[in-house]
Amino acid sequence: MKLGNLELENCFSLAPLVGITDTLFRSIAKRYGCGLVFSEMINSNGVLKGGVSYLKKLEITPEEEPVGIQLAGDNPKIMVQAAQMAEASGAKILNINMGCPSQKITKNKAGCALMTNPALVKEILQAVKNAISIPLSIKIRLGWDDKTMNYLEIAHIAESEGCVAVFMHARTRAQGFSGQARWPEIKKLKEYIKIPVIGNGDVTSHEKALLMMRETGCDGVMIGRGALGQPWIFRPFEPTLNEKKALMLEHLNKSIEKYGEELGIRLMRKHFAWYSQGLPHSSQFRKNIHTYTDPAAVRNYIEQFFKDLCSPNMTSVVSASTANVCY
Ligand SMILES: Cc1cc2nc3c(=O)[nH]c(=O)nc-3n(C[C@H](O)[C@H](O)[C@H](O)COP(=O)(O)O)c2cc1C
Repeated sequence: MKLGNLELENCFSLAPLVGITDTLFRSIAKRYGCGLVFSEMINSNGVLKGGVSYLKKLEITPEEEPVGIQLAGDNPKIMVQAAQMAEASGAKILNINMGCPSQKITKNKAGCALMTNPALVKEILQAVKNAISIPLSIKIRLGWDDKTMNYLEIAHIAESEGCVAVFMHARTRAQGFSGQARWPEIKKLKEYIKIPVIGNGDVTSHEKALLMMRETGCDGVMIGRGALGQPWIFRPFEPTLNEKKALMLEHLNKSIEKYGEELGIRLMRKHFAWYSQGLPHSSQFRKNIHTYTDPAAVRNYIEQFFKDLCSPNMTSVVSASTANVCY
């Protein structure tokens, strides 16, 4: 897939996820076949003020390239400067958040609130486009609510202002994450604009990603929650149990290296819960892993959990395909 001058290996991308899509998770997704990974939404004002936590979010490592940076904001002048900083930090594509439903963001006219102000959307896109040389894209929802679904209008503005793609989560702001993503609206968008449309919402398996493409004709698929605990979703086959164990240990080690022992382990707890989903005794695993605070104890517990999974009396519980790899 090509987004402007950015040539991608495939049409799958990792969605921006606050608190999750850091350099570590993005590198893992990339290794498992994701064509384009995105940073979490970064507040433009925070970037400009030089807050350390914001600047850290701009960091990009070589293993995850190409990386898109997503900015949130409502002030064109501030967004221009933040966009330039994102480009300088190595982003290969910029994305503007027009979909965040959180009141903390929308009360400042940013996130999905931008969709209610097409004139401001135009102003921001024009200003940012003129200030950067990397491709510009937007991520939208269907609209604020069912009565004001204006994704076609906003996408048209993006196309006219030189954006290279529209990423669309097929729910309204009012829907939050409830109900089903409305894939037929992705099809409508694809038929309405000429620039690539990347569909997003409720893709929980590789097969479902292909289904979304077939049903909507979209050019690419962005996956968020479906990648949690299964970052291999971007390729058509699952890793073995041994690979899953190795991945959990590697992710843990890198998390400790990046964030220090205490925070590194704490941040991994949600990932451990996701990684273990669907495995036998996963609820026990989740309960126990939370009690360990020492890196060696966490590692040992993971080793033991997988060893038990591969014990002869467990192999009948673990599905045949994954059990084979224990030996
Ligand atoms: C924990 C979490 C954090 C999110 N953070 C962002 C974000 O920073 N920027 C954004 O555009 N969307 C964000 N989203 C929305 C996702 O990118 C995506 O649009 C949504 O989850 C629907 O896709 P999915 O069904 O594949 O998860 C977030 C969603 C979740 C669940």
